[in-house]
Amino acid sequence: MCGILGYVGPQNVSEVLIEGLRKLEYRGYDSTGIAVFSKGDFQLYRSKGKIAALVEKIGSEKPQGHSGIGHTRWATHGKPSDENAHPHRSENLVLVHNGIIENHVEIRQELESRGVCFSSETDTEVIPHLMEHCVKEGMSIEDALYSCIAKLKGAFAIAVFSKQQPEKIYAAKNASPIILGIGQGENFISSDIPAILDHTRKVVVLEDGEVAMIDREKYWITDFDRNPIERDPKEITWSRIAAEKEGYKHFMLKEIYEQPRALADCLRGRVDEKQYLPALPEVSLPKLESMHRVILIACGTSWHAALVAKYWMESFIKIPVEVEVSSEFRYRDPVLDSNTLVILISQSGETADTLAAMTKAKPSGARMISICNVIDSSIARKSDDVMYTHAGPEIGVASTKAFTTQLTALALLTLAIAYQRKSISNAEVRDMTQQLLHLPSLIEECLDMNPHVEKLAKELIDVRDVLYIGRGSSYAIALEGALKLKEISYIHAEGYMGGELKHGPIALIDKDLPVVALVSGGPTYEKMLSNIEEVKARGAFVIGVCEQGDQKVQKQSRGILEVPQTSDFLRPIVESIPLQLLSYHVAEQRGCDVDQPRNLAKSVTVE
Ligand code: M6R
Repeated sequence: MCGILGYVGPQNVSEVLIEGLRKLEYRGYDSTGIAVFSKGDFQLYRSKGKIAALVEKIGSEKPQGHSGIGHTRWATHGKPSDENAHPHRSENLVLVHNGIIENHVEIRQELESRGVCFSSETDTEVIPHLMEHCVKEGMSIEDALYSCIAKLKGAFAIAVFSKQQPEKIYAAKNASPIILGIGQGENFISSDIPAILDHTRKVVVLEDGEVAMIDREKYWITDFDRNPIERDPKEITWSRIAAEKEGYKHFMLKEIYEQPRALADCLRGRVDEKQYLPALPEVSLPKLESMHRVILIACGTSWHAALVAKYWMESFIKIPVEVEVSSEFRYRDPVLDSNTLVILISQSGETADTLAAMTKAKPSGARMISICNVIDSSIARKSDDVMYTHAGPEIGVASTKAFTTQLTALALLTLAIAYQRKSISNAEVRDMTQQLLHLPSLIEECLDMNPHVEKLAKELIDVRDVLYIGRGSSYAIALEGALKLKEISYIHAEGYMGGELKHGPIALIDKDLPVVALVSGGPTYEKMLSNIEEVKARGAFVIGVCEQGDQKVQKQSRGILEVPQTSDFLRPIVESIPLQLLSYHVAEQRGCDVDQPRNLAKSVTVE
């Protein structure tokens, strides 16, 4: 987690850093800090809390300077506090870091035995002191950096600069993301693109095991062994405004409303519209011919997308499909072979557990396809093939458009493989592909229910728990609805299979437990009606999610969320919209920090 930023150029660096850090706050926001080189020394400001707290601490006289670094933190080692906030410094160096230095205890002990005093509880602080130690032994800053990173174990994206060379900022990367922004007479280092888009669209992505330097006029890159690497900048085409709120109260609401556009972008260029067949140029389908098994690996919301895909893949490709949580898979002894297809799903493409799961799967020779939103992210780069979801930047911590575009990409992939293997008829593939093309307008229709959902949300703002039930692929949506509610409103919520209630959870049902029942259709429709009866008989307050005009569900429910009529295939995507809106309005009405809920960060780049 954490966002890092560095700048060298003619602008006042304080402004550039503060504005840039606001765009990185989604990566962590429990403390922030900047270091500016000014009047021959570093001016260091650090504060617990969000950027607003830092700005208040700095006051009206921002430090003036032309080079500096900044950081927004998600604590791993050491509580959120002014002392633990980055940048961290030694006598002549300041540094910001994203990642975890796993051998920090050993390094710290060694440095302490040489008389170094530490002022924080962080793992990070060992890096500037280790570098300083090398400099004192006669090394240049550059030599000190290469020597120091050779000793570090763990994940790091760092930016560091020195009093001796204040207009040269160095970066190094291992397992945490870092990019360079290339401007005219100014250059940037950042964890992500939105932080620099106000200044430049030219971006160079660093790979693991690389060191870079920026000054005003140039940049260079080497590997950790100092071999030079030539890499030209890429032009970023998405608009700056896409990374802002556009008048919505929260990013989450904006991102919910962006879904028709996001799904259309995800489908664009992937359907042969003359034949209505999926066309996925980015996936080498012939290489999947001998595949006999699929393993889907992901975390959180992306894992819920995987659960839905299991239903699709088993029905249409007709081979065994397993769904794995990355953080468990990485520590098991999974049985894989070169005829297994591994599909990694990750919005950020940087989730540490999913990256580690890839590393675990690699030696088996299994083919790996990733479904990612962030272009050139680590998971995307490490896969054999990548399908980008094209949702655009997702800033709200609660995943919405990333989820529905993941489902859309997985649906396309399922149909493409089914067509290739002839596991269902061409007519069936064509029919479902055509259905996918109507998805953006179906989602548009779902969004019309927003004012109704806003009213219904009032019923839930004071409850302690909510139970979501569903069956089949709607069970995955029940899990997703519950996750969405708990992460942004802090109301305890669980997703359960309707048929499992009688095996335990029904004991929880009383008049104080609202039950959101997904009962919009499919082969278990009647069974879900019975499940509603069971919970109603025990006093539960039922909110039914059903198709428009479904009087049976309407009669049985106190609250109703009607979705447009659709097929079993598309239902999980359509049903997820009212649940996103419900979570949003409950959290908003409870006065919660919807976009930046407590204890969470957008991309989980630590274990
Ligand atoms: O970037 P990823 O898709 O790999 O992230 C996985 C989870 O951390 C993420 O989906 C998380 O559960 C969201 N906050 C849910 O809204």
